[in-house]
Amino acid sequence: MLEKMLQDLEHIQEETKSQLKKVVSQEELNEIRVKFLGKKGELTAILKGMGKLNNEDRPKVGQVANEIRNNMEGFIAAKTKELKEAALTAQIEEERIDISLPGDPVALGHRHPLTMVIDDIKEIFLGMGYEIAEGPEVENDYNNFEGLNLPKDHPARDMQDSFYITENILLRTHTSPVQVRTMAKMVPNYPVKVICPGKVFRRDDDSTHSPMFHQVEGLVIDENISLADLKGTLLTVLRQLFGADREIRLRPSYFPFTEPSVEVDISCGICGGKGCRSCANTGWLEILGAGMVHPNVLEMAGYDSTKLRGFAFGIGVERVAMLKYGIDDLRVFFENDTRFLNQF
Ligand code: DAH
Repeated sequence: MLEKMLQDLEHIQEETKSQLKKVVSQEELNEIRVKFLGKKGELTAILKGMGKLNNEDRPKVGQVANEIRNNMEGFIAAKTKELKEAALTAQIEEERIDISLPGDPVALGHRHPLTMVIDDIKEIFLGMGYEIAEGPEVENDYNNFEGLNLPKDHPARDMQDSFYITENILLRTHTSPVQVRTMAKMVPNYPVKVICPGKVFRRDDDSTHSPMFHQVEGLVIDENISLADLKGTLLTVLRQLFGADREIRLRPSYFPFTEPSVEVDISCGICGGKGCRSCANTGWLEILGAGMVHPNVLEMAGYDSTKLRGFAFGIGVERVAMLKYGIDDLRVFFENDTRFLNQF
Protein backbone atom coordinates (compact mmCIF):
# COMPACT_ATOMS: atom_id res chain seq x y z
CA MET A 1 0.00 0.00 0.00
CA LEU A 2 2.68 2.43 1.03
CA GLU A 3 4.89 1.51 -1.90
CA LYS A 4 2.05 1.91 -4.34
CA MET A 5 1.19 5.40 -3.06
CA LEU A 6 4.78 6.57 -3.15
CA GLN A 7 5.10 5.26 -6.69
CA ASP A 8 1.90 7.04 -7.72
CA LEU A 9 3.13 10.31 -6.22
CA GLU A 10 6.45 9.94 -8.00
CA HIS A 11 4.55 9.18 -11.18
CA ILE A 12 2.33 12.30 -11.18
CA GLN A 13 5.39 14.43 -10.46
CA GLU A 14 7.14 13.01 -13.55
CA GLU A 15 3.94 13.26 -15.56
CA THR A 16 3.52 16.95 -14.63
CA LYS A 17 7.10 17.65 -15.60
CA SER A 18 6.85 15.97 -18.99
CA GLN A 19 3.45 17.45 -19.90
CA LEU A 20 4.65 20.96 -18.99
CA LYS A 21 7.41 20.65 -21.59
CA LYS A 22 4.85 20.71 -24.40
CA VAL A 23 2.90 23.66 -23.01
CA VAL A 24 2.99 26.84 -25.14
CA SER A 25 0.10 28.89 -23.74
CA GLN A 26 -1.23 30.13 -20.44
CA GLU A 27 -4.51 28.22 -21.02
CA GLU A 28 -2.71 24.91 -21.42
CA LEU A 29 -0.74 25.67 -18.29
CA ASN A 30 -3.95 26.27 -16.33
CA GLU A 31 -5.40 23.00 -17.56
CA ILE A 32 -2.37 21.13 -16.22
CA ARG A 33 -2.55 22.90 -12.88
CA VAL A 34 -6.20 21.88 -12.50
CA LYS A 35 -5.55 18.36 -13.73
CA PHE A 36 -2.76 17.59 -11.22
CA LEU A 37 -3.13 20.02 -8.32
CA GLY A 38 -6.83 21.00 -8.47
CA LYS A 39 -9.43 20.02 -5.83
CA LYS A 40 -10.57 17.14 -8.03
CA GLY A 41 -7.10 16.62 -9.44
CA GLU A 42 -4.80 13.64 -9.47
CA LEU A 43 -2.85 14.53 -6.30
CA THR A 44 -6.09 14.78 -4.30
CA ALA A 45 -7.21 11.46 -5.77
CA ILE A 46 -4.06 9.72 -4.56
CA LEU A 47 -4.24 11.27 -1.12
CA LYS A 48 -7.78 9.95 -0.68
CA GLY A 49 -6.13 6.56 -0.12
CA MET A 50 -4.33 7.89 2.97
CA GLY A 51 -7.12 6.73 5.25
CA LYS A 52 -6.28 3.11 4.52
CA LEU A 53 -2.68 3.52 5.66
CA ASN A 54 -1.55 2.58 9.12
CA ASN A 55 -0.53 5.28 11.57
CA GLU A 56 3.12 4.73 10.94
CA ASP A 57 3.02 5.14 7.18
CA ARG A 58 0.57 8.06 7.05
CA PRO A 59 3.07 10.79 8.05
CA LYS A 60 5.66 9.41 5.63
CA VAL A 61 3.26 9.70 2.70
CA GLY A 62 2.14 13.12 3.96
CA GLN A 63 5.72 14.36 3.95
CA VAL A 64 6.48 13.01 0.47
CA ALA A 65 3.15 14.39 -0.80
CA ASN A 66 4.03 17.86 0.50
CA GLU A 67 7.44 17.79 -1.17
CA ILE A 68 5.94 16.65 -4.41
CA ARG A 69 3.22 19.30 -4.30
CA ASN A 70 5.92 21.93 -3.71
CA ASN A 71 7.96 20.58 -6.60
CA MET A 72 4.96 20.58 -8.90
CA GLU A 73 4.04 24.13 -7.94
CA GLY A 74 7.67 25.07 -8.61
CA PHE A 75 7.54 23.56 -12.10
CA ILE A 76 4.35 25.43 -12.88
CA ALA A 77 5.72 28.72 -11.56
CA ALA A 78 8.86 28.28 -13.67
CA LYS A 79 6.78 27.54 -16.74
CA THR A 80 4.60 30.61 -16.06
CA LYS A 81 7.69 32.78 -15.94
CA GLU A 82 9.05 31.19 -19.11
CA LEU A 83 5.79 31.84 -21.00
CA LYS A 84 5.68 35.48 -19.89
CA GLU A 85 9.23 36.08 -21.01
CA ALA A 86 8.60 34.44 -24.37
CA ALA A 87 5.53 36.62 -24.89
CA LEU A 88 7.49 39.76 -24.05
CA THR A 89 10.34 38.80 -26.38
CA ALA A 90 7.85 38.18 -29.19
CA GLN A 91 6.22 41.56 -28.59
CA ILE A 92 9.55 43.37 -28.61
CA GLU A 93 10.51 41.59 -31.79
CA GLU A 94 7.25 42.58 -33.41
CA GLU A 95 7.50 46.26 -32.43
CA ARG A 96 11.16 46.63 -33.17
CA ILE A 97 12.05 49.63 -35.37
CA ASP A 98 14.46 48.72 -38.12
CA ILE A 99 16.58 51.83 -38.48
CA SER A 100 18.33 50.35 -41.50
CA LEU A 101 15.11 50.44 -43.60
CA PRO A 102 15.10 53.16 -46.29
CA GLY A 103 12.91 56.17 -45.38
CA ASP A 104 9.79 57.32 -47.22
CA PRO A 105 10.89 59.07 -50.40
CA VAL A 106 10.25 62.84 -50.43
CA ALA A 107 8.11 63.76 -53.45
CA LEU A 108 10.10 66.30 -55.45
CA GLY A 109 8.08 68.78 -57.46
CA HIS A 110 9.22 70.75 -60.47
CA ARG A 111 8.47 74.00 -62.24
CA HIS A 112 5.03 74.50 -63.78
CA PRO A 113 5.11 74.18 -67.59
CA LEU A 114 4.17 77.86 -67.95
CA THR A 115 7.01 78.85 -65.63
CA MET A 116 9.32 76.72 -67.76
CA VAL A 117 8.24 78.59 -70.90
CA ILE A 118 8.61 81.99 -69.20
CA ASP A 119 12.07 81.01 -67.95
CA ASP A 120 13.07 79.87 -71.46
CA ILE A 121 11.89 83.19 -72.93
CA LYS A 122 13.71 85.21 -70.24
CA GLU A 123 16.89 83.24 -70.83
CA ILE A 124 16.83 83.96 -74.56
CA PHE A 125 16.26 87.71 -74.11
CA LEU A 126 18.80 88.04 -71.30
CA GLY A 127 21.30 86.50 -73.72
CA MET A 128 20.43 89.30 -76.17
CA GLY A 129 21.14 92.03 -73.62
CA TYR A 130 17.58 92.74 -72.47
CA GLU A 131 16.69 93.62 -68.90
CA ILE A 132 13.65 92.33 -67.05
CA ALA A 133 11.09 94.94 -65.95
CA GLU A 134 8.09 94.28 -63.76
CA GLY A 135 4.85 96.04 -62.95
CA PRO A 136 1.86 95.45 -60.66
CA GLU A 137 -1.09 93.27 -61.60
CA VAL A 138 -3.47 95.92 -60.23
CA GLU A 139 -2.93 98.87 -62.56
CA ASN A 140 -4.39 102.29 -63.15
CA ASP A 141 -6.33 103.27 -66.24
CA TYR A 142 -3.60 105.59 -67.47
CA ASN A 143 -0.89 102.95 -67.64
CA ASN A 144 -3.15 100.21 -68.95
CA PHE A 145 -4.92 102.28 -71.64
CA GLU A 146 -4.47 106.05 -71.81
CA GLY A 147 -0.66 106.11 -71.98
CA LEU A 148 -0.83 103.47 -74.71
CA ASN A 149 -2.89 105.71 -76.98
CA LEU A 150 -6.19 104.17 -75.87
CA PRO A 151 -8.28 107.07 -74.56
CA LYS A 152 -11.47 106.42 -72.56
CA ASP A 153 -13.81 106.24 -75.55
CA HIS A 154 -11.49 104.17 -77.75
CA PRO A 155 -13.33 101.22 -79.36
CA ALA A 156 -10.29 98.93 -79.01
CA ARG A 157 -10.94 98.93 -75.25
CA ASP A 158 -13.87 96.61 -75.95
CA MET A 159 -11.49 93.74 -76.73
CA GLN A 160 -9.90 94.07 -73.33
CA ASP A 161 -12.78 94.12 -70.88
CA SER A 162 -11.32 93.76 -67.43
CA PHE A 163 -12.07 93.43 -63.74
CA TYR A 164 -12.42 96.92 -62.32
CA ILE A 165 -11.69 97.79 -58.71
CA THR A 166 -12.76 101.41 -59.21
CA GLU A 167 -13.37 103.32 -62.43
CA ASN A 168 -9.65 104.06 -62.66
CA ILE A 169 -8.13 100.97 -61.05
CA LEU A 170 -8.29 97.59 -62.75
CA LEU A 171 -6.56 94.24 -63.12
CA ARG A 172 -4.18 94.88 -66.01
CA THR A 173 -5.45 93.44 -69.29
CA HIS A 174 -1.98 93.07 -70.81
CA THR A 175 1.67 93.57 -69.88
CA SER A 176 1.86 96.68 -72.09
CA PRO A 177 1.42 99.06 -69.10
CA VAL A 178 4.93 98.01 -68.07
CA GLN A 179 6.04 99.81 -71.27
CA VAL A 180 4.52 103.02 -69.90
CA ARG A 181 6.07 102.48 -66.46
CA THR A 182 9.50 101.68 -67.91
CA MET A 183 9.51 104.75 -70.17
CA ALA A 184 8.43 106.97 -67.26
CA LYS A 185 11.36 105.66 -65.24
CA MET A 186 13.95 105.86 -68.04
CA VAL A 187 13.06 109.11 -69.84
CA PRO A 188 15.04 110.89 -71.29
CA ASN A 189 17.61 108.08 -71.29
CA TYR A 190 17.91 105.46 -73.98
CA PRO A 191 18.38 102.82 -75.30
CA VAL A 192 15.52 101.05 -73.58
CA LYS A 193 15.65 97.27 -73.97
CA VAL A 194 13.32 95.37 -71.66
CA ILE A 195 11.02 92.40 -71.47
CA CYS A 196 8.18 92.26 -68.95
CA PRO A 197 6.76 88.84 -68.07
CA GLY A 198 3.68 88.58 -65.91
CA LYS A 199 0.03 87.75 -65.25
CA VAL A 200 -2.77 89.55 -67.04
CA PHE A 201 -6.57 89.41 -66.68
CA ARG A 202 -9.60 89.65 -68.95
CA ARG A 203 -13.29 88.84 -68.88
CA ASP A 204 -12.83 85.75 -71.06
CA ASP A 205 -13.32 82.08 -70.30
CA ASP A 206 -13.29 79.20 -72.80
CA SER A 207 -10.97 76.45 -74.04
CA THR A 208 -8.50 78.95 -75.48
CA HIS A 209 -9.10 81.89 -73.10
CA SER A 210 -8.65 82.04 -69.36
CA PRO A 211 -9.59 85.05 -67.17
CA MET A 212 -6.00 84.95 -65.93
CA PHE A 213 -3.14 84.28 -68.32
CA HIS A 214 0.45 85.29 -68.96
CA GLN A 215 2.27 87.54 -71.39
CA VAL A 216 5.82 88.61 -72.02
CA GLU A 217 5.99 92.19 -73.24
CA GLY A 218 8.99 93.53 -75.10
CA LEU A 219 10.07 97.15 -75.64
CA VAL A 220 13.10 98.55 -77.43
CA ILE A 221 13.69 102.30 -77.91
CA ASP A 222 16.74 103.71 -79.64
CA GLU A 223 17.82 105.77 -82.62
CA ASN A 224 17.44 104.08 -86.01
CA ILE A 225 15.25 101.21 -84.86
CA SER A 226 13.30 99.71 -87.73
CA LEU A 227 10.75 97.02 -88.45
CA ALA A 228 13.65 94.91 -89.75
CA ASP A 229 15.13 94.92 -86.20
CA LEU A 230 11.80 93.72 -84.86
CA LYS A 231 11.55 90.95 -87.43
CA GLY A 232 15.15 89.83 -86.93
CA THR A 233 14.75 89.79 -83.16
CA LEU A 234 11.52 87.77 -83.25
CA LEU A 235 12.91 85.31 -85.81
CA THR A 236 15.94 84.67 -83.58
CA VAL A 237 13.82 84.25 -80.47
CA LEU A 238 11.15 82.04 -82.03
CA ARG A 239 13.76 79.79 -83.64
CA GLN A 240 15.41 79.32 -80.25
CA LEU A 241 12.04 78.52 -78.71
CA PHE A 242 10.62 76.26 -81.43
CA GLY A 243 13.56 75.07 -83.52
CA ALA A 244 15.95 76.43 -86.16
CA ASP A 245 13.79 75.17 -89.04
CA ARG A 246 10.90 77.53 -88.29
CA GLU A 247 9.99 80.53 -90.45
CA ILE A 248 7.97 83.58 -89.45
CA ARG A 249 5.78 85.98 -91.38
CA LEU A 250 4.38 89.41 -90.50
CA ARG A 251 0.78 90.32 -91.34
CA PRO A 252 -0.61 93.84 -91.10
CA SER A 253 -2.73 94.32 -87.98
CA TYR A 254 -3.93 97.04 -85.67
CA PHE A 255 -2.96 98.00 -82.15
CA PRO A 256 -3.47 101.59 -80.91
CA PHE A 257 0.01 101.70 -79.39
CA THR A 258 1.95 100.65 -82.49
CA GLU A 259 2.13 102.00 -86.04
CA PRO A 260 2.51 100.01 -88.17
CA SER A 261 1.18 97.01 -86.25
CA VAL A 262 1.74 93.40 -87.19
CA GLU A 263 0.53 89.96 -86.27
CA VAL A 264 3.40 87.48 -86.26
CA ASP A 265 2.87 83.92 -87.47
CA ILE A 266 5.25 80.97 -87.15
CA SER A 267 5.40 78.15 -89.69
CA CYS A 268 3.45 75.10 -88.51
CA GLY A 269 5.71 72.55 -86.82
CA ILE A 270 3.49 69.62 -87.68
CA CYS A 271 3.31 69.99 -91.48
CA GLY A 272 6.38 72.19 -91.89
CA GLY A 273 4.29 74.91 -93.54
CA LYS A 274 2.49 72.76 -96.13
CA GLY A 275 -0.88 73.02 -94.41
CA CYS A 276 -2.58 70.52 -92.10
CA ARG A 277 -5.37 70.24 -89.56
CA SER A 278 -3.44 71.96 -86.75
CA CYS A 279 -2.85 75.10 -88.81
CA ALA A 280 -6.25 75.10 -90.52
CA ASN A 281 -4.46 74.29 -93.79
CA THR A 282 -2.65 77.61 -93.86
CA GLY A 283 0.82 76.38 -92.88
CA TRP A 284 1.01 79.20 -90.31
CA LEU A 285 0.18 79.65 -86.64
CA GLU A 286 -0.48 83.04 -85.08
CA ILE A 287 1.88 83.57 -82.19
CA LEU A 288 2.13 87.21 -81.13
CA GLY A 289 1.31 90.86 -81.74
CA ALA A 290 3.94 93.53 -82.37
CA GLY A 291 4.74 96.77 -84.12
CA MET A 292 6.67 100.04 -84.16
CA VAL A 293 5.91 102.09 -81.04
CA HIS A 294 3.32 104.77 -81.95
CA PRO A 295 4.79 108.32 -81.89
CA ASN A 296 1.97 109.36 -79.54
CA VAL A 297 3.12 106.74 -77.02
CA LEU A 298 6.72 107.98 -77.19
CA GLU A 299 5.62 111.61 -76.88
CA MET A 300 3.28 110.96 -73.94
CA ALA A 301 6.19 109.32 -72.14
CA GLY A 302 8.38 112.35 -72.88
CA TYR A 303 10.55 110.95 -75.67
CA ASP A 304 11.20 112.93 -78.86
CA SER A 305 9.48 110.91 -81.56
CA THR A 306 11.34 112.71 -84.33
CA LYS A 307 14.65 111.47 -82.98
CA LEU A 308 13.81 108.07 -81.47
CA ARG A 309 11.92 105.01 -82.58
CA GLY A 310 10.96 101.81 -80.90
CA PHE A 311 9.47 98.41 -81.44
CA ALA A 312 7.29 96.44 -79.09
CA PHE A 313 5.72 93.03 -78.92
CA GLY A 314 3.45 90.98 -76.69
CA ILE A 315 3.86 87.21 -76.49
CA GLY A 316 1.06 85.04 -75.10
CA VAL A 317 2.80 82.51 -72.85
CA GLU A 318 -0.06 79.96 -72.80
CA ARG A 319 -0.21 80.11 -76.59
CA VAL A 320 3.52 79.38 -76.86
CA ALA A 321 3.23 76.52 -74.34
CA MET A 322 0.22 75.04 -76.18
CA LEU A 323 2.07 75.09 -79.51
CA LYS A 324 5.32 73.86 -78.01
CA TYR A 325 3.77 70.93 -76.15
CA GLY A 326 0.77 70.22 -78.42
CA ILE A 327 -1.93 71.09 -75.85
CA ASP A 328 -5.38 71.97 -77.20
CA ASP A 329 -7.16 73.15 -74.05
CA LEU A 330 -5.59 75.99 -72.10
CA ARG A 331 -7.57 75.29 -68.93
CA VAL A 332 -5.40 72.26 -68.07
CA PHE A 333 -2.63 74.67 -67.07
CA PHE A 334 -4.70 75.93 -64.15
CA GLU A 335 -6.45 72.79 -62.90
CA ASN A 336 -3.49 71.59 -60.80
CA ASP A 337 -4.00 68.01 -61.97
CA THR A 338 -0.71 66.26 -61.26
CA ARG A 339 -1.44 63.66 -63.96
CA PHE A 340 -1.02 66.53 -66.44
CA LEU A 341 1.74 68.41 -64.63
CA ASN A 342 3.92 65.32 -64.08
CA GLN A 343 4.37 64.97 -67.83
CA PHE A 344 6.73 67.92 -67.96
N1 DAH B 1 -0.96 94.16 -75.63
C1 DAH B 1 -1.42 93.40 -76.76
C2 DAH B 1 -2.53 92.48 -76.33
O1 DAH B 1 -2.53 92.07 -75.22
C3 DAH B 1 -0.29 92.62 -77.35
C4 DAH B 1 0.71 93.53 -78.01
C5 DAH B 1 0.57 93.83 -79.34
C6 DAH B 1 1.72 94.04 -77.29
C7 DAH B 1 1.49 94.67 -79.98
C8 DAH B 1 2.64 94.91 -77.90
C9 DAH B 1 2.50 95.21 -79.26
O2 DAH B 1 3.66 95.45 -77.26
O3 DAH B 1 3.40 96.02 -79.85
O4 DAH B 1 -3.35 92.13 -77.12
